[in-house]
Amino acid sequence: MDWGMKNRFSKIIRPEDGRCVMLAIDHGYFLGPTEKLENPKETIKPLLPHADSIMLTRGILRTSVSPEINVPIVLRVSGGSSIIGEDLSKEAIVTSIEEAIKLNASCLALSIFIGSKYESQTLGNLSKLVDDGERYGIPILAVTAVGKEMARDARYLGLACRIASELGAHVVKTYYCKDFTKVVESCPIPIIIAGGKKISEREALQLTFDAINDGASGVDMGRNIWQSDYPIAMIKAVKSIVHENYNFAEAYDLFLTESKAKIQNAF
Ligand code: 5RP
Repeated sequence: MDWGMKNRFSKIIRPEDGRCVMLAIDHGYFLGPTEKLENPKETIKPLLPHADSIMLTRGILRTSVSPEINVPIVLRVSGGSSIIGEDLSKEAIVTSIEEAIKLNASCLALSIFIGSKYESQTLGNLSKLVDDGERYGIPILAVTAVGKEMARDARYLGLACRIASELGAHVVKTYYCKDFTKVVESCPIPIIIAGGKKISEREALQLTFDAINDGASGVDMGRNIWQSDYPIAMIKAVKSIVHENYNFAEAYDLFLTESKAKIQNAF
């Protein structure tokens, strides 16, 4: 890796512990105004001091985030399909590398859809983006998107993560699953996990702990943070597991303490 690539990569995965808390707020790019992200500015602002980086599209970055922030940007550059369109996997690169540089992105994110109709197109997108990233020293995050009909098991996710790494991605995002260590062991680049649909805070923290314990390098988490009634308490608890080696019970306790303090302060 050259200096610029290393420098940007260190803003995504902390060099001190090899871990990251990436806040995912890119959902609108195919879901539209997702619950609690209807007004992105309002949702994002209080969480910024607690996130290592934020993952979002250029549209939300420009309209809803101050350029004076000190949080690294993971720019989602794939898109072009919607939840009601022909096929979610029919994505293209929708933001140029020049635009990403202008926006001072530290990392570029793009989805790949293994096993789907447009698998080959999305893998071509990844390969092109890796070439662009290598040219300008910007790391690439491959997002292993899972079609409705795909099983989120170690065999499938292992296949997707390994292919992402073979095509040159620098970090890959996937889902936690049974036998997750097998996915980690067969993938030579850091793996971070998505939170998925909203579940209870207790379950989301257990998921985070299990993933880190099984070798994940961190999270790229959205709904289980900002759809919580206590998003700040939640991101702090997630962070305690990722960076402070809290176990599940300690992190859940932190969540309860922080959320109770918020309730008490309201009266
Ligand atoms: C959407 C994404 C999301 O960023 C990713 O799924 C993480 O968010 P969540 O924790 O809500 O699942 O890439 O395609």
